Amino acid sequence: MSEKAQADSPQSQWDDTPIAEAARRAARVVTGSEQLPRPDRARVFTIANQKGGVGKTTTSVNLAAALSRQGQKVLVIDLDPQGNASTALGVEHRAGTTSSYELLIGEAEAREAVQASPGNDNLWCIPATIDLAGAEIELVSLVRREYRLHDAIRRGHIEEEGFDYVFIDCPPSLGLLTINAMTAAEEVLIPIQCEYYALEGVGQLLGNIGMIREHLNHDLHISAILLTMFDARTRLSEEVAGEVRSQFGEVVLRNVIPRSVKVSEAPGYGQTVIDYDPGSRGALAYFDAARELARRGDYQPHATTGAIGVSPEVARQLNDTQDGE
Ligand SMILES: Nc1ncnc2c1ncn2[C@@H]1O[C@H](COP(=O)(O)OP(=O)(O)O)[C@@H](O)[C@H]1O
Ligand SMILES: [Mg+2]
Repeated sequence: MSEKAQADSPQSQWDDTPIAEAARRAARVVTGSEQLPRPDRARVFTIANQKGGVGKTTTSVNLAAALSRQGQKVLVIDLDPQGNASTALGVEHRAGTTSSYELLIGEAEAREAVQASPGNDNLWCIPATIDLAGAEIELVSLVRREYRLHDAIRRGHIEEEGFDYVFIDCPPSLGLLTINAMTAAEEVLIPIQCEYYALEGVGQLLGNIGMIREHLNHDLHISAILLTMFDARTRLSEEVAGEVRSQFGEVVLRNVIPRSVKVSEAPGYGQTVIDYDPGSRGALAYFDAARELARRGDYQPHATTGAIGVSPEVARQLNDTQDGE
């Protein structure tokens, strides 16, 4: 099935048949063994949306796990005091554990805070503990308060460790923690939940990204938007998906993440859905989205599109239009 057809295929009773199950098992074998080309240099993503519950954490850990299963060395940085990404990756994050908090405050170096995610050879995590809850305020009085994370990981650590992908999981706010994520990354991935008010707050997020580009990090741009919790049985999901695609175009990944019980169950076992049930629809959707993200590479913005990335094809078309003027 083509990526497009797969993304659009309706969820149906077909899903629960033995044949569907067998197909998933076959796919599991394929997804587990396939190797992706490693990027020329580390791709560092901030996963942002100031709305809570849209799938930021789920997307961070599952894209990370899917890429690590396909030969990439991946780091997840948990920057949300709730520590949900740390939970899903099964790493220690009790109060007092060396974490992203110590990194931001300058009490620890990245290599001291990194933990291996059990069961995944290539997957690492800098956890978040409850200590991070006070960081927004503590950061205010520190030098280079917007660049604390940048300074901790972008001055050699990522290259020395040979990471291919870094995903920074943000809290649902646009405060100093999120700003620190956005100065440490080049790429922003925005998960959008296929629900009512899906685009609420996205305008504000774009405004903030624009300001950060202007004042703090010229390289920051939106390289991907991922539609999450898509429910093919509802018209609402289709409508939201249609609206997001018409507003943002090709930067929206073709693969969408379906609403799936397995995805929501996995964190309860300290696992990603990739580990919990690799043949489930949710896991396969994250495998597909991860492959799409890896294969298409970084979508950079065009001079006329602000912070929003475009495909190389669209960039060519825009250049032709400009030349013709
Ligand atoms: N595709 C999905 N299907 C079902 N539940 C999901 C899916 N993605 C996320 N969830 C659930 O929705 C809730 C919010 O997701 P989460 O990733 O924590 O959002 P955020 O980090 O943006 O607050 C969690 O309980 C999560 O398990
Ligand atoms: Mg979260």
